[in-house]
Amino acid sequence: MADNPVETHYTRHDLGDVILAALKQVGKDIDHLTPDDLAPVDEFHGGQRPATIRLAEPVGFTGAERVLDVGSGLGGPSRYLAWHYGCRVSGVDLTAEFVRVASMLTEKTGLVGRVDYRQGNALDLPFEDASFDIVWSQNAAMNIADRDRLYREMRRVLKPGGRLALQEVAAGPGGDPHFPVQWAREPSISFLLSQEATRETLETAGFRVLVWQDTTKPALEAARARALTAEGPLPALGTHLILDADSQAMFRNSARNLEERRTELFNAILERVS
Ligand SMILES: C[S@@+](CC[C@H](N)C(=O)[O-])C[C@H]1O[C@@H](n2cnc3c(N)ncnc32)[C@H](O)[C@@H]1O
Repeated sequence: MADNPVETHYTRHDLGDVILAALKQVGKDIDHLTPDDLAPVDEFHGGQRPATIRLAEPVGFTGAERVLDVGSGLGGPSRYLAWHYGCRVSGVDLTAEFVRVASMLTEKTGLVGRVDYRQGNALDLPFEDASFDIVWSQNAAMNIADRDRLYREMRRVLKPGGRLALQEVAAGPGGDPHFPVQWAREPSISFLLSQEATRETLETAGFRVLVWQDTTKPALEAARARALTAEGPLPALGTHLILDADSQAMFRNSARNLEERRTELFNAILERVS
């Protein structure tokens, strides 16, 4: 039983079976999967795989890095980084069901030994100080109220000079978001900060900004396209399998929130200041 409202929001108990059944339905060999086979369903953030590529490119991975993915979900981004760049990635996530499914999918893609997952809270990361070269996080902080502590924890586990790669949803000037959205069915578990306030909090936590990119425009294009497909029959494989019954309303609201500037999206690369 999930005992945290954020975990309850994300938990769907039959998720692993549902995803494997959908993969079979689209003709995949579920014992020999690739990260590309899984990308429509396991990249659980605005913009999906293209957004992961957009965030990874300016990091300049060499393959030698030890990476931590905070709020790793079903593991799409972490498997992509390990598979594409050759780095070693650990994922940490609050939602036990996601950690189970991420581990199962990693086994089926033959990436065990290069990617691992554990359940844990981003506010109390279960890792030693200075363990990682890169901390990576996509669309997880919007469920986390205590950003001071979140970014201090991310800094703590980074080696001096290590880098933080973030894709985040930010509060826009247009007012509160329409709910439900993918990260919350109602406001009590949604904690958006403006881009300016996020940047200030990161700098106070001990980071220097290397790259800051407002990605609202491509995110809106992707959200509009997804909202349109959600009006017709849903594809066999997609993130609606994670969200279940109210996914169509979430996709519609995501596009509307971006259009009305209630939400914005940004990517940032930061460096840990010694
Ligand atoms: C929208 S999903 C994104 C998953 C993944 N980053 C991706 O892009 O595919 C948000 C994730 O953040 C996780 N999360 C939320 N609050 C967290 C916390 N305090 N500690 C760790 N994970 C958290 C959720 O369990 C969920 O898996």
